[in-house]
Amino acid sequence: MPEVEAPTRAAPMKMSPRAMISSDRIAKRVREMGDEISEVYRDIDTPLVLVVILKGATVFAADLLRSLTIPAELEFVRAASYGSGTAPGKLKLAHMVEGPMIGRHVLLIEDIIDSGRTVNAIMRRLSKLKPASLRLAALLDRPARREEEVKIDFTGFVIPDRFVIGYGLDYAGLYRELPGIYYLT
Ligand code: IMP
Ligand code: MG
Repeated sequence: MPEVEAPTRAAPMKMSPRAMISSDRIAKRVREMGDEISEVYRDIDTPLVLVVILKGATVFAADLLRSLTIPAELEFVRAASYGSGTAPGKLKLAHMVEGPMIGRHVLLIEDIIDSGRTVNAIMRRLSKLKPASLRLAALLDRPARREEEVKIDFTGFVIPDRFVIGYGLDYAGLYRELPGIYYLT
């Protein structure tokens, strides 16, 4: 992997990205997750609704969607970043799903579960829309910094306590295009 420059928009920092999960391992795991999810939802009578959390989960969602063998629709949510003093659970959404969720089987798609606050707040909001079922798929689970308990129904990889970039995950908006996952030191 070529050396990547520290993003100019962020505070200057010496960083060397180290490989954590190769694109081949990701592709294999995402296909397995697609099989697992397709099996769980095999008998539902409406298309599954994938609710993708912008922006980081889009790359994972695009691959996961194409690994499904059941019909699926796409919706998006976008969390506004936590302001200082934002109470836990009071997350604001900059974008909410557009279609009705009532009676639908909904699978929330996230890139990484860290403190757990983002997904828990979004799950609470989605559950108010009365879906028939609501589950969570996360590419990465980093349990070291969990602040709230989260039930992850489909997990790609459990990772150690490192900040990661690539495959949709960013540092100051950059590095989402990297095909594998790297950690910064
Ligand atoms: P949580 O609410 O603390 O669980 O934060 C999860 C959100 O923070 C994810 O949607 C990611 O966008 C972002 N995030 C957390 N850890 C990382 C990381 O290591 N790299 C990139 N983004 C991260
Ligand atoms: Mg995110």
